[in-house]
Amino acid sequence: MNEHSHLLSKNDCDVYHRQRRYYSYLPSCITITILCICFSVVLTNKHFQGIRSTTSIPINSSSSILDYDNDKKYIHPGSIFLDTQNKPINAHGGGFIFYNNTYYWYGEIKVGSTYLPPSNADWGGTRVDLTGISCYSSTDLLNWRYNGNVLPTVLNDTEHDLNIDKVAERPKVVYNERTNKFVMWLHIDSMDYKRARSGVAISDRPEGPFTYINSFRSNANQMARDLTVFVDDNTRAYLFYSSEDNAALHVTELSDDYLSTKGNYSRIFIDRYMEAPTIFKKDGAYYFIGSGCTAWQPNAARSAVSYTSIFGPWKELGNPAQGLDANTTFHSQSTYVLPVVGDGDSSGSERFIFIADRWNEKNLSDSRYIWLPISFEEDRLAIHWHDKWSPT
Ligand code: GAL
Repeated sequence: MNEHSHLLSKNDCDVYHRQRRYYSYLPSCITITILCICFSVVLTNKHFQGIRSTTSIPINSSSSILDYDNDKKYIHPGSIFLDTQNKPINAHGGGFIFYNNTYYWYGEIKVGSTYLPPSNADWGGTRVDLTGISCYSSTDLLNWRYNGNVLPTVLNDTEHDLNIDKVAERPKVVYNERTNKFVMWLHIDSMDYKRARSGVAISDRPEGPFTYINSFRSNANQMARDLTVFVDDNTRAYLFYSSEDNAALHVTELSDDYLSTKGNYSRIFIDRYMEAPTIFKKDGAYYFIGSGCTAWQPNAARSAVSYTSIFGPWKELGNPAQGLDANTTFHSQSTYVLPVVGDGDSSGSERFIFIADRWNEKNLSDSRYIWLPISFEEDRLAIHWHDKWSPT
């Protein structure tokens, strides 16, 4: 080996310097690239979060830290709502009551892996095992305290309506002034959705726990799936449920204790295949918002009004969602219309919140909530998208 053998030729030298230059640029290139990636991730996630949505309404794909909404001044539709312990609120297909100056939110607890039972393969009916019904409470609609699983699964009886293999959806709670009890109605079903029944549970307190009573098909064994309950000013209560294999909705009056149905009912929206019913009252008129029938996939919402009676005639008013992504109701499906009141009487309320689920059929536990104000525009209902808004 000669003594200069470690020295570089001119050519080698050029290559060496080029490489040195290249390697000296490399850290800054990498830094810039990382910064660019971070920046675009932040923008994308902000977009998903709903902070900026000028060209498209954000849809959750999988959750990211930026989806979490711990801004307690505004509602951010589509974000992950956090409870007062900073845990994601798990209350899907929800129902609400206002009692003793407090709002209560009841909903399906969706946890665990999402799977598609073979029986539901042809219509995409994914599910998670049944866990129960959650209850949250709030005095300002922004800070929600978790009160626990108020109607948990029954594990030791595989035939029970609340066994993990069953379906318990869309809990709606009403307060009965006569009995001083809180009554929960739910859609109870088998895994393949063929049992199609309504279930009832009862509690002495709004924060539960609730005691399950039974399930049944009312009005001469009519099928009953998605449901809601509405209490009128005169304390009469009405159950709305999707019936006739979802082809029509039925409206039926509840017994005085709200635990069963009286037997009088009317068929409404015949052959319109509506689900996810919600009812509210303003200035003496009854309003309806619901969805079409496309399993977990969103579709264009439906709305209707009845000026004379809750049994009808109901006049359809079209899709209340307006603007971009109205045809999927901003990627969501109705579950409740919440009167912002103070006295619990929906007829006196001027402000109503459209509450909907943005289902994630592949990961149901990552389903989100869409809360938006409802406006009344020339005798019809309108729901516009807001990235954020204040409910108070
Ligand atoms: C929807 C219904 C939901 C749930 C789902 C199952 O149409 O509104 O509550 O039952 O189907 O796929």
